[in-house]
Amino acid sequence: MIQEIQTLTWLPEGGVRLLDQTRLPREEVYVECRDAEAVAEAIRNLRIRGAPALGVAAAMGLALGAQRLQATDVASFLRDLKEVAAMLARTRPTARNLFWGLERILTVAEKHRDLSLPALKRCLVEEAITMHQEDLACNRAMGAHGQQLIKDGDTILTHCNTGALATVGYGTALGVIRAAWERGKQIQVLVDETRPVLQGARLTAWELTRLGIPSRLITDSMAGDFMRRGEVQAVIVGADRIAMNGDVANKIGTYTLAILCRYHQVPFYVAAPFSTVDLALATGDQIPIEERAPQEITTIAGIPIAPEGFPASNPAFDVTPAALVSALITDRGVLYPPLARAIETLRGSSPPGDSSEP
Ligand code: MRU
Repeated sequence: MIQEIQTLTWLPEGGVRLLDQTRLPREEVYVECRDAEAVAEAIRNLRIRGAPALGVAAAMGLALGAQRLQATDVASFLRDLKEVAAMLARTRPTARNLFWGLERILTVAEKHRDLSLPALKRCLVEEAITMHQEDLACNRAMGAHGQQLIKDGDTILTHCNTGALATVGYGTALGVIRAAWERGKQIQVLVDETRPVLQGARLTAWELTRLGIPSRLITDSMAGDFMRRGEVQAVIVGADRIAMNGDVANKIGTYTLAILCRYHQVPFYVAAPFSTVDLALATGDQIPIEERAPQEITTIAGIPIAPEGFPASNPAFDVTPAALVSALITDRGVLYPPLARAIETLRGSSPPGDSSEP
């Protein structure tokens, strides 16, 4: 029996405990965040990362921040709470889930504004804990739907980290791979190392080792060659934000994979919870793309690999047009092209509060 990874947990005495992903795979170290600022620091510096994990971390961070607010009346409390939410929102711009998590907590605060302040604060913690539980259930549902697309004997290529570490547990794209393996399908995984910060090499490889799924690490530039040799039967990736027309923002390099898949006629699947869909964005052109520090490109593990001061660009995500996506695997089922119509149909069943960030 594999011990489940504790990516993030709420501490009953008031705090958020995170497995520090910057230290993996060398060390398993946990950090305890005692205020919203500490959660924001952990998000900004990738101690916690991956869209669904960011949604729950932001929600827990806001619930934690709420406990510390000194306001003595509800109006001032709600105003101060929005400021904490804005501070958490400034950490990373691309993952829709982060904003979705903050909005859920703010919506609950507004809804229960008639409660006493201590009761209202308790409500916010309960909501964050509910989101934690829902994420796990959602990933298992996604896994069950998505594994039907995987055949016995398939080799699946994946990019970045979309496993338990990128979520509360189980994972999205890696959850689909795990679900296929748990159902006895003899599969193999090719893991893109995922430059610049190597989420594939450091995190996905670590998770696959724990799960015992046969896997090999490749550099990002090898994907095309493996496809040309007929050694890849499917590519499955996660998503940070999906526009209403089905365009997908995900880790830089995803677009290149989608193009390679089209050329080699390999199915290109995206697995993401419906909370990753931004109901307010018509197309992927409107998705804000995070630009990170050039040092992530010019160094590896702190060691310079380029001449001192050499300029570098570091967009953390790219956008894959919906036309290149073979299917979108969600917690509510598998959506097939045309994705715009399929997403619009599912929208009708969205829980209240789904909207774009302020
Ligand atoms: O910069 P990161 O590590 O947060 O980027 C993560 C990704 O791009 C993942 O593929 C995406 O968030 C989906 S995670 C289930």
